Amino acid sequence: MIVTTAVKPSEQTMAKARALAEELSGRLQLRRGQTLSQLMTAGADDQLLVVLDNEVRYYKGSTSEQPLYYHPSMAFVRVKRLLRGDRDPLIDLSGCEPGDSVIDCTAGLAADSLVFSIAVGAEGSVTALESEPVLHVVVREGLRSYDSGLAEADEAMRRIKLVRSNHTDYLSSLPDNSVDIVYFDPMFEEAIEESSAIGPLRSLANHGKLSESAVQEAVRVARKCVMLKEQKGSNEFERLGFTRCKTKKTSKITYGVIPVDRAT
Ligand SMILES: C[S@@+](CC[C@H](N)C(=O)[O-])C[C@H]1O[C@@H](n2cnc3c(N)ncnc32)[C@H](O)[C@@H]1O
Repeated sequence: MIVTTAVKPSEQTMAKARALAEELSGRLQLRRGQTLSQLMTAGADDQLLVVLDNEVRYYKGSTSEQPLYYHPSMAFVRVKRLLRGDRDPLIDLSGCEPGDSVIDCTAGLAADSLVFSIAVGAEGSVTALESEPVLHVVVREGLRSYDSGLAEADEAMRRIKLVRSNHTDYLSSLPDNSVDIVYFDPMFEEAIEESSAIGPLRSLANHGKLSESAVQEAVRVARKCVMLKEQKGSNEFERLGFTRCKTKKTSKITYGVIPVDRAT
């Protein structure tokens, strides 16, 4: 992978590019007046990470494809709703309250993590796990620097702790009853068309099926519940022991829950 910057990067951005190149075992290339496309061709590499002052963009194949970058997308709408006192199904169904600790086992673009982070507030905590290195870096850097124009949303992004780890390994390392809510949103087998926000994520994501052992570990670790998001017709709820929750008729996704109720 080639790692580069804008044409005239600040010293800080240059240092960040150097650090990210090392973290991802990429090759740092100065722009020297070249376009991104020229860099890719000259470097004979189809992966390009562009480090900008407050954003990291990842291109795969060609610079005419939409890059992967961090943006809160639909989560921003959900955040604004929560802040004005409206309900969010994930928060309601999980019984999430201010002060809770949440592990989001499938971070992706951390949209659900952001909603949890708003709901648990500064007294709570959200740890988001992502197994894929590039996704982890792009989203981690975005959560650190994205400016949504809404202070509460930005503060909630900064509070999310994004960890690069396979969720089964991470959960196995935790003591019994040590977090309130454990959440899974694995990649759906078939993409839902309108969720274009995660389009560029699909080629990088871990598409592995959620394992029974991950769910067992989650139940051991959780005090309140374990939640799963899936497509409405999915058999994953039955396979993994989740009770389907009722959601809007028009919704293409639904949640399943394993109540644990060990909260004191
Ligand atoms: C559907 S996306 C999650 C979207 C996310 N809920 C959001 O709101 O943006 C699933 C993500 O989980 C990651 N993932 C899948 N299996 C994983 C595992 N075993 N450990 C950690 N991350 C995993 C994928 O790489 C992908 O980024």
